[in-house]
Amino acid sequence: MPKSVYHVGLVGITGYAGMELARLLAQHPSMRLTMACSRAESGKRLGSYYPFLETLPGCDVCISSFNADEAAKSLDLVFLAVPAGTAFTIAPDLLAKGVKVVDFSADFRIHEQAVYETWYKQTHTAPHLLSKAVYGLPERYAKEIQKADLVANPGCYPTSIILGLAPALQHHCIQANTIVIDAKSGTTGAGRKASVANLFCEVSDTFRAYGLVSHRHTPEIEQELGLLAKTPLTVQFSPHLVPMNRGILSTIYADLADPSLTLDTIHQIYSDAWANEPWIRVLPKGRLPETRFVRGSMFCDIGLAVDPRTKRLIVVSVIDNLCRGAAGQALANANLMLGLPVDTGLANTAPLF
Ligand SMILES: NC(=O)c1ccc[n+]([C@@H]2O[C@H](COP(=O)([O-])OP(=O)(O)OC[C@H]3O[C@@H](n4cnc5c(N)ncnc54)[C@H](OP(=O)(O)O)[C@@H]3O)[C@@H](O)[C@H]2O)c1
Repeated sequence: MPKSVYHVGLVGITGYAGMELARLLAQHPSMRLTMACSRAESGKRLGSYYPFLETLPGCDVCISSFNADEAAKSLDLVFLAVPAGTAFTIAPDLLAKGVKVVDFSADFRIHEQAVYETWYKQTHTAPHLLSKAVYGLPERYAKEIQKADLVANPGCYPTSIILGLAPALQHHCIQANTIVIDAKSGTTGAGRKASVANLFCEVSDTFRAYGLVSHRHTPEIEQELGLLAKTPLTVQFSPHLVPMNRGILSTIYADLADPSLTLDTIHQIYSDAWANEPWIRVLPKGRLPETRFVRGSMFCDIGLAVDPRTKRLIVVSVIDNLCRGAAGQALANANLMLGLPVDTGLANTAPLF
């Protein structure tokens, strides 16, 4: 039975992803944040902890430690904006009590338990849920998400990369095993917890690569690109940290499947493939996307180039890591799971500066 207002909870309210979701929920017409959880800030009023929420819906919620029994009493859905290795300890209890879950972490994104355990270096304690979880990329899996009780919200880098490569793989424009991804993220991508590596002086006025050949998003990217290509594949994925607060820009290279393919042809394939997806904007030929133009939004902007000398396709894909890459996408998934239009509460974009 559809409700006029759904009550939702958020575990991880004090993190960057949780903060962004609190911002979005405050303007959602059909969802009310009635439980907000953090261990460190338990007992504080939400509007006092986040002054930007003051006077808005949810501001009087008292931050609490998570309790599944309390959640089950009144909540329709809980967002888990917690680190990997935590969600699989919380989600089973909620699901057993009939509460839907959208998990921001990688705990339910990887279909194969062994692959998860190899890359995340921990034992998965709820492997029976891996086959039930739906990968929460609305443009790919909207129908499955509508029926799901557990959605694994995609990673930020994978979101930019999968959306950037889907038409090229589905239409066989590129050789699937030649993909090289050079991606850059703002520092909110590393989370809000205190660490020396994320101090202002460590991240400003410098630019560095990290996680080469070992970044944990690699198996998720390979899983989803492999499904698009209908064949297992490996990618080279090199992430970088740039001195900006938010945003991801992925520059992706791949050898053309047919050296005679032109930019005109591939641009038309991309434009047709994403024609009915309002959040994906294929830019006109000759234009390249920038992170500032998708800030705080659900947009994924895509620019294309074909190098006739090297016979490579180059895709530049940008998203906002906190909105499209985390909280906004989680909200889109929750909308679908609760029977609402996917874009409910997500129409507005944040200011540019
Ligand atoms: N930041 C991004 O751009 C981004 C993008 C996509 C996906 N994600 C994913 O979203 C999740 C949250 O990321 P974030 O960047 O917001 O992290 P964060 O800033 O480090 O925040 C983590 C949150 O989880 C809570 N938490 C930590 N350990 C917990 C535990 N054992 N039990 C219960 N709560 C716990 C923390 O609050 P207390 O310690 O007070 O409980 C905090 O509110 C992660 O899985 C991350 O990979 C993040």
